[in-house]
This record gives sequence, C-alpha cells and structure tokens, in this order.
Amino acid sequence: MMNVLPRGVRHLPGFLDRTAQGALLEEVRAVVAAAPLYRPEMPRTGKPLSVRMTNCGALGWVTDKGGYRYQPHHPVTGAPWPAIPASLLQIWNEVSAYPHPPEACLVNFYEETAKMGLHQDKDESDFDAPVVSISLGDDCLFRVGETVRSGRTTSIRLQSGDVVVLGGEGRLAYHGVDRIYPATSALLKNGGRINLTLRRVTKPA
Ligand code: SIN
Ligand code: MN
Repeated sequence: MMNVLPRGVRHLPGFLDRTAQGALLEEVRAVVAAAPLYRPEMPRTGKPLSVRMTNCGALGWVTDKGGYRYQPHHPVTGAPWPAIPASLLQIWNEVSAYPHPPEACLVNFYEETAKMGLHQDKDESDFDAPVVSISLGDDCLFRVGETVRSGRTTSIRLQSGDVVVLGGEGRLAYHGVDRIYPATSALLKNGGRINLTLRRVTKPA
C-alpha cells in the first residue's frame, strides 16, 4: 500500500542537499554551543524524555514538572535563546506560505534509542502558521495521523535533508518518532538524529 499522508501534511524528501545539510549542521552546532542540549522532563511526573532539547528564536518550547510552555530563556543557563539562523528562516520562507517569521525553533537530538510519543503541537496561539520540521543525521520512522489520537496513522522514513510541513488541515495532526535507524547517515560524526521544528507561537499584531 502507498503511504498516503493525511491532508495538510507534506513530505519534501531531499529538500536540503548534502552541502546545505553540512552548512545547517554548523549553524546548529553554534546554537548548541550557546544554548546547550539538556534533558527535559514530562509534565507532572518529571520523568526524563529520551530526547535532549534546546531552542533558538525569541521563544523556546520547554517541558518540566510545571507543564509545557514557551519561554524566552534557557531553563538551565537562564540565558536568552540564540537567534534562529538565517538559513532556517530561508527554509521557512520557501515552504511555509505564511507571511510572518517563525518565533521558535525547537532542536531535538535523538540518540539511537530515543523516540518521541504521538502528540500534537498545540502550545502555540496561531495555528494559521504551519509547523516546519527539518531532519539531519540518521533516518527515523516518523508516524503521522489525524487530529484525533485514535485516528489512522501513516509511517514514513525520514532521511537527512528531508522537510515535513504540517499545515492547514494537518496543522494539528498527531505525530511522533517510533525509532531511529542507527548508522544510516554519515552527517553526524557520532551518529544520532537532529530534528529542527520551526513554529510561529504568537498571533501577529
Ligand atoms: C517533534 O514533534 O517535536 C519532533 C518530530 C521529529 O523529530 O521529527
Ligand atoms: Mn511535535
């Protein structure tokens, strides 16, 4: 059977070529140098996530015992998040069809055993803007469904350089990462997968 993606979900395989992936990786390294990856915790239980995170942009998405939210500073260092690199703003301009810039870029780092449960991105006040997601490094099995948790889901393999856009009817689609395929990309010297998610958080004035 063909992988038919839910309406509003677009997969752009190989959107970034190897050179662009390498250049973006250098920008991500600079972000991580200024805003180190840390291990966030689940709301209420405080259970650690398997994914490590950081952010760039005016606002960053965080989770801890207090819940999910956006905030302007790193929860461990207290410093403001670094700016979103120009190359990411460029990707947003090319694929979002949205006239205002993103305010947040969540940086997820997956070691080979990390995964992310099925969830919706719904902590933003503006669902008119899409979520734009960029993959670097090892492949993963990405699952995407409908806007109800019980809906049918489709799984696709995401590779380094792929872009996924959740927009329109797909903006609130459930999605998650079931597994990483170790050693499938040579982009990251020590393996693993980086996912970058660009989001508009506030409604433009
Ligand atoms: C996310 O939903 O925050 C990440 C999705 C991904 O890693 O592809
Ligand atoms: Mn998400």
